[in-house]
Amino acid sequence: MTRIAVLPGDGVGPEIVREALKVLQRVSRLFDIPLTFEDGIVGGAAIDRYGTPLPLETRNLCRTADAILFGAVGGPQWDNLPVDRRPERGLLALRKELGLYANLRPVKLFAPLVDASPLKREVITGVDLLVLRELTGGLYFGEPKEIGPTPDGKGERAIDTLSYTTCEIERIARIGFQIAERRRKRLTSVDKVNVLASSQLWRRVVTETAKEFPGVELSHMLVDNCSMQLIRDPRRFDVVLTENTFGDILSDEAAMLVGSIGMLPSASLGEGPGLYEPIHGSAPDIAGQDTVNPLATILSAAMLLRYSLHHESAATAIETAIDRVLEAGHRTLDIMQPGHAVLVGTAQMGNLVVEHIARG
Ligand code: IPM
Ligand code: MG
Repeated sequence: MTRIAVLPGDGVGPEIVREALKVLQRVSRLFDIPLTFEDGIVGGAAIDRYGTPLPLETRNLCRTADAILFGAVGGPQWDNLPVDRRPERGLLALRKELGLYANLRPVKLFAPLVDASPLKREVITGVDLLVLRELTGGLYFGEPKEIGPTPDGKGERAIDTLSYTTCEIERIARIGFQIAERRRKRLTSVDKVNVLASSQLWRRVVTETAKEFPGVELSHMLVDNCSMQLIRDPRRFDVVLTENTFGDILSDEAAMLVGSIGMLPSASLGEGPGLYEPIHGSAPDIAGQDTVNPLATILSAAMLLRYSLHHESAATAIETAIDRVLEAGHRTLDIMQPGHAVLVGTAQMGNLVVEHIARG
């Protein structure tokens, strides 16, 4: 029996996770994959109940599970807390404690959505890239990280630390090359080598690691240029390998290539059980309205089947079902094309995907 820890979190989290669970239950029956689901509390909901964004119980549940399905965390009611006590800290602590350093964010255009993106169809037709974001290093976790008085006592000074070790760069680079080997065999490593010391080491180590993968073509790109090239010519990219903060920013940008951030799933892999979540946040402004797009979370569930359960056919069945539902013209608000499509709510979108899942 495969144990899945389910952490809905805050805002739209519970709504999107509910739809992903429907889909997992459907494939569990259809493909005869025994799954059990155990709920855990995380983020703002956990702060309100236990005073901490990642209670011990949730920690233990995640540590012992085979995989984790995660919704989203955060909301305005917790915005004034210091960074180390905010809801987001629950997610960051999970990533760090479980050693989930490799964050896969595939950016693949579903053909029926070609006109849902604000970008021209001739630029985005056929977009299929993967942002591989380093997830447990860099500015997110570097020490010191603090706010204190300036030495002269006039005002305050805030410090974040961007640090990377050879070992941290090497292991994420290896994953990047391995993924590229199974795709179109091109890897673009993104850095800011003209300014940052951490980028100098990054570029050196990635170049060195590339020697183990002679079949993959490596190129380097500065992050500012990359943010432009992603819009100018996104099809040139296959695997985009980058550090934590750059990956956070570039993946939100890349989401617009495929219509909406509501379409982008992610898998966080490494030492502990894989964690699967949409790349978008908790969207408190639309929570509880049955309007949020559940597809990013449903696609994350497909990634869970692929990477943690090695059940490729079940993963593909979900992705094919989504393609058919979009092909039939069903759209949530974020990908709505007036005049060409039928608007559906969150739950209905989930139900449609369930109905379209078939054994290949
Ligand atoms: C993401 C999110 C998180 C991040 C937040 C919620 C801490 O933006 O997964 O991209 O910055 O990593
Ligand atoms: Mg982000």
